[in-house]
Amino acid sequence: MTTPLYSIPGAPQPASAAPAPPAAEGAVDGARTVNEVLASSQVEAVMDELDRDLIGLAPVKSRIRDIAALLVIDKLRANLGLARDGQRSAPSLHMSFTGNPGTGKTTVALRIAEILHRLGYVRKGHVVSVTRDDLVGQYIGHTAPKTKEVLKKAMGGVLFIDEAYYLYRPENERDYGQEAIEILLQVMENNRDDLVVILAGYKDRMDTFFRSNPGMSSRIAHHIDFPDYTKDELLLIAERMLAEQHYRFGEGARAAFEQYLARRMQQPHFANARSVRNALDRARLRAASRLFADRDRVLTEADLTTLMPEDILASRVFQASAS
Ligand SMILES: Nc1ncnc2c1ncn2[C@@H]1O[C@H](COP(=O)(O)OP(=O)(O)OP(=O)(O)O)[C@@H](O)[C@H]1O
Ligand SMILES: [Mg+2]
Repeated sequence: MTTPLYSIPGAPQPASAAPAPPAAEGAVDGARTVNEVLASSQVEAVMDELDRDLIGLAPVKSRIRDIAALLVIDKLRANLGLARDGQRSAPSLHMSFTGNPGTGKTTVALRIAEILHRLGYVRKGHVVSVTRDDLVGQYIGHTAPKTKEVLKKAMGGVLFIDEAYYLYRPENERDYGQEAIEILLQVMENNRDDLVVILAGYKDRMDTFFRSNPGMSSRIAHHIDFPDYTKDELLLIAERMLAEQHYRFGEGARAAFEQYLARRMQQPHFANARSVRNALDRARLRAASRLFADRDRVLTEADLTTLMPEDILASRVFQASAS
C-alpha cells in the first residue's frame, strides 16, 4: 500500500478501503441478479431519464449504458466475493469528455454522478465543476492548498475539470499547473473509491494534453466523445427547452428558427445547444417587448406563451446576410 503524498482532509483514507455504502442502503450488497441491483439502486430510472430528456447523443448514451452494465455486474461479482483484478478495491471510473461547446458535457456529467451515487460508487453524487483558475495559484505555495480545497469539496462525488488542458502549459517551465496535475494524479489513484474525475474540453487539445501527460491518460478509463448536434436535433432541443419554460413556437416560428439555425451554424463561435438556449432567451426578450408595446391589450395565455416568427427573424443573424 502506497501512502499518499498528499492527504485530503476529510477524505476517507485509501488504507481503510471500506466500500462506500450504496444509496439504497444495503440492498445492492445482497443482490444476486441484474434486476435486483437495478431495482434496489433505482439506477434504471436515471438511465431512462437520460434517454428521454437528452436529444441525440446516441454514442454517449450507449457508452454510459455500457459503463452502468459494467458497474452492475461488478457489484454482483463483489457480492459473490469475486475479487476484482489486482488488489484494487474500486474500478477506475475517471473519464474524459471531449467535444465542442454546448454538446451536453456538463449535463451528462450530472447524470453520471447520479448513476454512480445510486450504485454506491460515490457517497454523495454531487458535481464540483472547476477550471484551471480554481486549482492553480498565482504564486509559489498557493497551488497545493487550492487544489486540495477543491478536492475536499469534490470527495464523494465527481470533480469536473472544464478545459482541462489549460492545466498544462508546456511553454512555461515553472508553471504551477504541473503541481496541480501531480496532486490530481495522486488522488485519482488513491481515492478512486470515492472520487471520479472527469476532464472535459475540445478533442484536439485534449489529445495533445494526454500525449504530454501520459500519467493522466493512463488513469482515464473512459474516453467519451460528444458529437456536434445536427440541425434537426437542435430543433428538437429548442422545442424541449421552450416546453420546459411554458413557451412554444407559434405558426411559422419553428420554420423561422430552422432558418436561424441554418445561418447560425455556419458562423464562428456556434456552440450547439448553448447557442440554442441563448437564441431562445433573446427571442423571448423580443416577444416580451412586442407584448409590452401594446399596453391596453388583454393578454391571453396564448399571447404569453407563444413565440412568433418575427421574434426570431429580428435576430442579427438575418441582418448580417442581407448586406
Ligand atoms: N442533448 C440535449 N438535449 C437537450 N438539451 C441539451 C442537450 N445537450 C445540451 N442541452 C442543453 O444545452 C445547454 C448546454 O449544455 P451543457 O452545458 O451540458 O454543454 P457543455 O458541453 O457542457 O457546454 P459548455 O461548453 O457550454 O460547457 C444546457 O442548457 C443543456 O440543458
Ligand atoms: Mg459545460
